[in-house]
Amino acid sequence: MAEFDVIIIGAGPGGYVCAIRAAQLGLKVACVEGRGALGGTCLNVGCIPSKALLNATHHLHEVHENFEKMGLMGANPTVDWAKMLAYKDDVINGNTKGIEFLFKKNKVTWLKGWATIPAAGQVKVGDEAHTAKNIVIATGSEPSSLPGVTVDEQIIVTSTGALTLGAVPKSMVVIGAGVIGLEMGSVYARLGTQVTVVEYLDAITPGMDAEVAKAFQKILTKQGIKFILGAAVQGAEAGKSGAKVAYKLRKDDSAHEIEADVVLVATGRKPYVNGLGLEALGVEMLPRGQVKTDDHFATNIKGLYAIGDAIIGPMLAHKAEDEGMALAEIMAGKHGHVNYGVIPGVVYTTPEVASVGATEEQLKEKGHAYKVGKFSFMGNARAKAVFQAEGFVKILADKDTDRILGAHIIGPMAGDLIHEVCVAMEFGASAQDLALTCHAHPTYSEAVREAALACGDGAIHA
Ligand code: NAI
Repeated sequence: MAEFDVIIIGAGPGGYVCAIRAAQLGLKVACVEGRGALGGTCLNVGCIPSKALLNATHHLHEVHENFEKMGLMGANPTVDWAKMLAYKDDVINGNTKGIEFLFKKNKVTWLKGWATIPAAGQVKVGDEAHTAKNIVIATGSEPSSLPGVTVDEQIIVTSTGALTLGAVPKSMVVIGAGVIGLEMGSVYARLGTQVTVVEYLDAITPGMDAEVAKAFQKILTKQGIKFILGAAVQGAEAGKSGAKVAYKLRKDDSAHEIEADVVLVATGRKPYVNGLGLEALGVEMLPRGQVKTDDHFATNIKGLYAIGDAIIGPMLAHKAEDEGMALAEIMAGKHGHVNYGVIPGVVYTTPEVASVGATEEQLKEKGHAYKVGKFSFMGNARAKAVFQAEGFVKILADKDTDRILGAHIIGPMAGDLIHEVCVAMEFGASAQDLALTCHAHPTYSEAVREAALACGDGAIHA
């Protein structure tokens, strides 16, 4: 039996970051992970492998779409799928090994196996029992299935199976036009798969600023992805060489079927807390399956905390990381804090889509008086030079104070560009503060500045 200051259950972005920070703050830390590799869903079957495949297929798309325009003739690469998957696996291994190194460097003990919490202050891993002053549930989430759909991870797959398909399918139906559906749908569309996305709502990417979502759908349609919106999937059935998806159009309740080689179910995720023994322990849960916590990540059991996808809030790796860092500080007697108003969201398609803060719809609903500054990448020389001038930057600022309330970007490197607005918002900046900041030329960031200028006296290149 070993005794620790903190035992963290789960080594995803929330758990491993919490472990490292807690150790840096002088606590004796262990992190339990049964997967066989550190990094959780994000590194093993989520964010990182999907980005590797998005990168490879983005280059393929570039060759087909843009090389000849730049005088690069004759390039016609063929896809070696096994090699592309091996590249993706190398990327995963490099990153998970990196966390092992960081654990050693920071003296975090990796307890290998699956944990249970038999009593407050106790964690059991296999036959070994350990005690800890603090226990952190950082066990993440798992894909939530749909009634009438049985996932086999071969023909009817979740995001996990979509990363290891035996071959590039000729056709794919994606159920759900959320982040996973559009990122993985993009990967396969670029590989030549006929991708059809079936979405319950009348727009893609729920929660995204509506103007951006509309532009996004238009661009993806141009890239060859088909959308069936306002369609409630009723079920999916796998046969020998493909699957049938049954859906009903909400406008007239008419029933339809669509067939494809592979069906990707991307209808959301749910907290993964099975098998920890939370019920026996009497841990309070929320109706949607999350662990109930207070503002300091504490559950109703003394010394038991929870962070990341296992609790309420957006299911994002960086939200979990921030919570992990804040909780480490709290456990070390400091004042950890997460600003939930400034958590960016990014979709890693081409173009990327990124947002932070309020959408126009949210401001309207609140009756908040706002102004909009918009700038198209058509006016950005750098974006035009790389054939990525589709899209725009939209900044929302308070009508009276000019304080930035939100930003929404669809365009090149949007996922990186958004962070200058995040920093500005953290400092309570006005749109004019951003507009008066010198931006290097020629950069994509100039479009952000121009949008900020458009909140005031107007953009220059519009
Ligand atoms: P999601 O919640 O983003 O989207 C699910 C979509 O499925 C919704 O649009 C919903 O209306 C639709 N849907 C649900 N039931 C349906 C039905 N019966 N028929 C048709 N459509 C239906 O979920 P997703 O994409 O699976 O992602 C899960 C989580 O993972 C999200 O919280 C997401 O933010 C996170 N994630 C984030 C990434 C990023 O930040 N780049 C990448 C991948 C995942």
